[in-house]
Amino acid sequence: MNEVNPWSSSQIEDYERMRKEFGIPEFNFDLDNNLFARRHLIIGHRDFSSVNEAMRRKSKFYAMTGLMPSGEMHIGNKTVIDLIIYFQKKGADVHIAVADLESYATRGISLEKGRQLAIENFLLNYIALGLEPCDFYFQSESSRVQKFSYILSKEVNMSEMKAIYGFEDSKRMLEISSPLIQASDILSPQIYDGPAPTVVPVGADQDPHIRLTRDISSRMNLFRLNMDRGIEISIGGTEDPEKPMKIAENIMIRAGATKVSRNRKYRIIRSEDSGNLDLFFMRNELARAEREINRYSTIAPSSVILRLETGIRGGKMSKSVPESTISLNERPEDSRKKIMRGLTGGKESVEEQKRLGGNPYACPIFELYMYHLSKDDTDLKRVEEECLTGKRMCGECKSEAAERMGLLLNELKEKRELARDRINEYIKD
Ligand code: TRP
Repeated sequence: MNEVNPWSSSQIEDYERMRKEFGIPEFNFDLDNNLFARRHLIIGHRDFSSVNEAMRRKSKFYAMTGLMPSGEMHIGNKTVIDLIIYFQKKGADVHIAVADLESYATRGISLEKGRQLAIENFLLNYIALGLEPCDFYFQSESSRVQKFSYILSKEVNMSEMKAIYGFEDSKRMLEISSPLIQASDILSPQIYDGPAPTVVPVGADQDPHIRLTRDISSRMNLFRLNMDRGIEISIGGTEDPEKPMKIAENIMIRAGATKVSRNRKYRIIRSEDSGNLDLFFMRNELARAEREINRYSTIAPSSVILRLETGIRGGKMSKSVPESTISLNERPEDSRKKIMRGLTGGKESVEEQKRLGGNPYACPIFELYMYHLSKDDTDLKRVEEECLTGKRMCGECKSEAAERMGLLLNELKEKRELARDRINEYIKD
């Protein structure tokens, strides 16, 4: 997969533009050669190095996600959970929010219905996919998440919410506060169990939520780390900075700084020797020390940003377009029909395709192989080459995809049955 980049298509150009526009760095971590990393399905990140360091040093970190209980869990939702499971295996303390308040607000799903959908359609599949016990909670029932969402609401005003989400005046208040409840989902583990790096795997369309949450985190912190010119810690607030400056200075020195200067008027501690500083240590220690004077201090959450899967019929994959995706609870026969009607990168006629080959890089069916149906790179490479050289026709390729999808769905179905007995290991009440 290295010599040919499968995403040299228009999609990646869009992602490059997105990265530039929103200042998203490229993802260059290999995550133990994880499937999503090595196939370039992770197209960017926010501050992932702090999580990577936590994994490397085996120190505490959180992995967090949320689900909207508004319908079926589909293959597009599976990718995030696969990553959460990966992080759990690497030692993450996992928290999963059921966004039942959000689906009540935005989709009119009652809390009772939301609960049932979350368990039947999501939790059972999560367990079937390999999720081990973790904190799986409902927004509507978590008083600690609700409480912190009130507290952090102080940091955001309406013009900011409008700028990010385009909210009109007719929006209902619960919809307007949903992103703030979500920010609380992401920061609450740190608030209640102590500061540590947090990773939130998200689809590329969810980056605004992460940006907002990172901003909120930094606004609520007293210590702010700035790495644009050398390393600077500035002290927020208006109170006498002497004590926090002393703490910050101390931590900077323990992190390996030799030349440290301070500016009391501007409330800044500064070091020139940026290259030698243990930034991971510094950030963790700052957050921990700050906790003594500010109970709302957190480390800004990190994200890995996933490339969005294309719908089977082209366009966006979404549960509001049932023929564009496959639900994990659907029958293999039904998924076969969808796949057989899918869009491909094939040519107009069989002769032409034999002669010129197909285009796997603009093919939703090839994407199914990439994300879900071909775990082995040699196998994927074979599918790719056969397509490119005109040996593989779309009909047979789809049929093989449908066959593999059927096996996956059947396996999940069996595992869901076993998972049923384990629900109470995840939901504690
Ligand atoms: N809003 C997310 C969605 O539409 C669900 C969600 C709620 C979430 N809380 C979260 C996602 C925290 C990531 C982290 O799917």
